[in-house]
Amino acid sequence: EEEILGKIQDLRAKAYLGGGLDRINTQHKKGKLTARERIDLLLDPCSFNEYDTFVEHQCTDFDMDKHKIIGDGVVTGHGTINGRTIFVFSQDFTAFGGSLSKMHAQKLCKIMDMAMKVGAPVIGLNDSGGARIQEGVDSLGGYADIFQRNVLSSGVIPQISLIMGPCAGGAVYSPALTDFTFMVRDTSYLFVTGPEVVKAVTNEDVTQEELGGANPHTVKSGVAHYAFENDIEALQRVRDFVDFLPLSNREKAPIRYTDDPPTREDPALNHIIPVDSTKAYDMRDVITRIVDDGNFFEIMPDYAKNIIIGFSRLEGQTVSIVGNQPMVSSGVLDINSSVKAARFVRFCDAFNIPIITLVDVPGFLPGTAQEHNGIIRHGAKLLYAYAEATVPKITVITRKAYGGAYDVMSSKHLRGDFNYAWPTGEIAVMGAKGAVEIIFRHVSDRTQAEKEYIDKFANPLPAAQRGFLDDIILPAVTRKRIIQDLRVLKSKELPIIQKKHDNCPL
Ligand code: COA
Repeated sequence: EEEILGKIQDLRAKAYLGGGLDRINTQHKKGKLTARERIDLLLDPCSFNEYDTFVEHQCTDFDMDKHKIIGDGVVTGHGTINGRTIFVFSQDFTAFGGSLSKMHAQKLCKIMDMAMKVGAPVIGLNDSGGARIQEGVDSLGGYADIFQRNVLSSGVIPQISLIMGPCAGGAVYSPALTDFTFMVRDTSYLFVTGPEVVKAVTNEDVTQEELGGANPHTVKSGVAHYAFENDIEALQRVRDFVDFLPLSNREKAPIRYTDDPPTREDPALNHIIPVDSTKAYDMRDVITRIVDDGNFFEIMPDYAKNIIIGFSRLEGQTVSIVGNQPMVSSGVLDINSSVKAARFVRFCDAFNIPIITLVDVPGFLPGTAQEHNGIIRHGAKLLYAYAEATVPKITVITRKAYGGAYDVMSSKHLRGDFNYAWPTGEIAVMGAKGAVEIIFRHVSDRTQAEKEYIDKFANPLPAAQRGFLDDIILPAVTRKRIIQDLRVLKSKELPIIQKKHDNCPL
């Protein structure tokens, strides 16, 4: 018996070293932590329970039976973050480059299945050379088994991908199917085909970083939701991030204590909107003045900056914020901002997170570039997402709400629960200049016509008179009002129409 215990201990010690000390050193030299060091930083101390430590690949081709690394390139198990259960896998680049074999995939699938059974999030720490080349189609099948589980888990448990090394080829589609993809600057990249293939096919010279680093994916493609400076920052911030989320769609997000009073008023908000209504202001200032302790976890801060999305808390309860950003292109809705916000709204609706919408939008962006790339189809996504959402929806129009964009931005007509405007609200089909060009085309005194139009529409009264706004509130009391409404909406219920699934515009 002692013999077997000793053997198990030896194997475990070996497993802890993955591909060996030399490769661990190489990993560290690249500025990367090892798979196990990452898990230690992600989870609460001593909370990790590992499974399948002794799993080995079963490949015999290419002499692979002589090359085995215990654990087969991935560490899997569960632990806690601030006391709540989380399932995790962490790919070990020191073992066959973290490449995905049949057994490696089986380990991932096992924890994904368990996470679904108990209703807990899965966080994937990705650092892998892709499909294990020696295993051929076994490895490809392994990916598909993972993809299938990603899809079945979607909307049931939160799924988060943290890219901490290479992630190429088929491997990219698991992160793409998860709810949030985070990257680490300079050490992680995501692409369908690497620079060599790009060169061969398109004759384009491009580096890994330029092709699929954190920068292009958080600024241009919108594939990744956030870029962190290094492994340590990434893991700590993901802990904070997960704390905003419920464990599954059957639960509510955790309440986190705050001593920020629910009745706190912020008189500075009364002066935040510039007197000149064409001037910009930073919607982030509005957000941080309303939410608990000014704490706002912005998601996709570098992509489609004309809309802001992220998580905060009110009275300790997680809320999501969607706000037009007048600082960037006047907060106009375009293809990228619509898609960015739509996916976020759908996540929040799936996971019982109330949606607070702050509106200052001059409309949809005109022009051939937008029309020919499908602004109609993409703008419809945001409209669809808001209309479909049954979680508490509270909307505050801070200034402009023009045209179709007024409807889209969580209007009363899309089952908005509480809709407000500040006294600076302007709700109309379009701005005065454009309107006068069309309806007063033949009037000689355009300036007078414009003034008339502004008097009539550049205020929130017409909408309030029709009940499209529930009230016009002073900016200073916004926090207080939203908190009171959220209390009322705790018991909100809306029937959900049974269908196989919807046909959301894609
Ligand atoms: N299958 C099997 N082994 C792999 C692998 C894969 N897909 N990717 C990497 N490895 C192994 C390497 O053979 C090497 O093994 P060794 O330590 O025993 O020498 C180890 O992992 C580290 O790889 P290495 O190439 O030395 O690391 P690097 O940091 O220089 O490069 C990559 C990393 C990912 C860019 C490079 O390994 C690569 O291009 N891999 C193949 C990527 C690919 O096209 N995968 C298929 C996509 S589905």
